[in-house]
Amino acid sequence: MSNIKYNLIDRTEPVVLKENLGFGNHFTDHVFEMDYTPEKGWHNAIITRLDKLEFHHATTFMHYGQTIFEGLKAYYTPNGEIQLFRPEKNMERLNKSAKRLCMPEVDIAFAVEALKELVAIEKDWVPKNYLDSLYVRPFMIGTDSLLGVKPSTAYKFIILLSPVGAYYPEGFKPIKIMIQEDYVRAVRKGLGECKTAANYASSLLGAEIARKMGYTQCLWLDAVELKYIEEVGTMNIFIRFNDEVATPALTGGILHGITRLSTIQLLKDMGYNLVERLISVDELVSRYEKGEVLEVFGTGTAAVISSVGEIKFRDNILKLTKDNQPGELATKLFDELSGIQRGTIPDRHNWIQKVDVEVTA
Ligand code: COI
Repeated sequence: MSNIKYNLIDRTEPVVLKENLGFGNHFTDHVFEMDYTPEKGWHNAIITRLDKLEFHHATTFMHYGQTIFEGLKAYYTPNGEIQLFRPEKNMERLNKSAKRLCMPEVDIAFAVEALKELVAIEKDWVPKNYLDSLYVRPFMIGTDSLLGVKPSTAYKFIILLSPVGAYYPEGFKPIKIMIQEDYVRAVRKGLGECKTAANYASSLLGAEIARKMGYTQCLWLDAVELKYIEEVGTMNIFIRFNDEVATPALTGGILHGITRLSTIQLLKDMGYNLVERLISVDELVSRYEKGEVLEVFGTGTAAVISSVGEIKFRDNILKLTKDNQPGELATKLFDELSGIQRGTIPDRHNWIQKVDVEVTA
């Protein structure tokens, strides 16, 4: 692209053939970066080597948390193409987070083009293994150096790439989650809808407690009444009842997941009665006891579609899958979504964008 500079290095051997890539352990050679100042707007767009960043000790994002991020994936298709899933949706959500945290918005078309260009340069890092992909992490930080609590004036926007496998250590086996009542992840009208570090920081202690008790993640409740199911923190949640598939309504404390949005569409396409509504934990437990909870699964870019095998709420243990096998609907959705993302199922909703691997650099 004409307004991006290039500072490319000799390639290192791509870490894509490794078994069990895990999540976020490996990084490609290059990143995209650009800077923002009120005078110049976004400028200095460059694809450059992955290296260390240097900051003043008082840099605002390290103290007051002006940091937002996104997550999406690039996939290798059986006919050798590389494609992205709904990248403009991620940039739209980044801009929503930016507004809430008093940060500058990016030009969506330019950010998507920059990310395609970076992925094209790093094409050899896109894993070919069916369950692996290249995770794309765009993020923005406030870079002023001062200790006053006010929005930074200068910012950096970066896109980082990481070849990944399954997010959860269980791979695609059902995960166990625990409903957390002692802590909350986010509060309505706070930052819950934003993809910002604060929400992940506030989830860490609960998740550590869950992990020590043998659970992979927490299922968070609303922060006002501790009554309604919200999200897992790494994914949105869906419950297949006997008469509907329900997912918590976006009441302000929940991330607007792009996989959530796409799953809603796929469920409607499949003819399910899909409802977005408040789901209380009491309803979940009482309907489980009546045999009306058929399946629970989570959706997220990193998590894809993850079947939930067990939910713990106080002394109630809800067993949701048999023989440690993913649920039927979760498997069907995983196959459908992954098929679209990886080019083996037609993209009937125009969700896919191809990466042109003829790089101009
Ligand atoms: C994602 O699904 O992309 C996420 O950002 C969740 C987690 C890895 C932080």
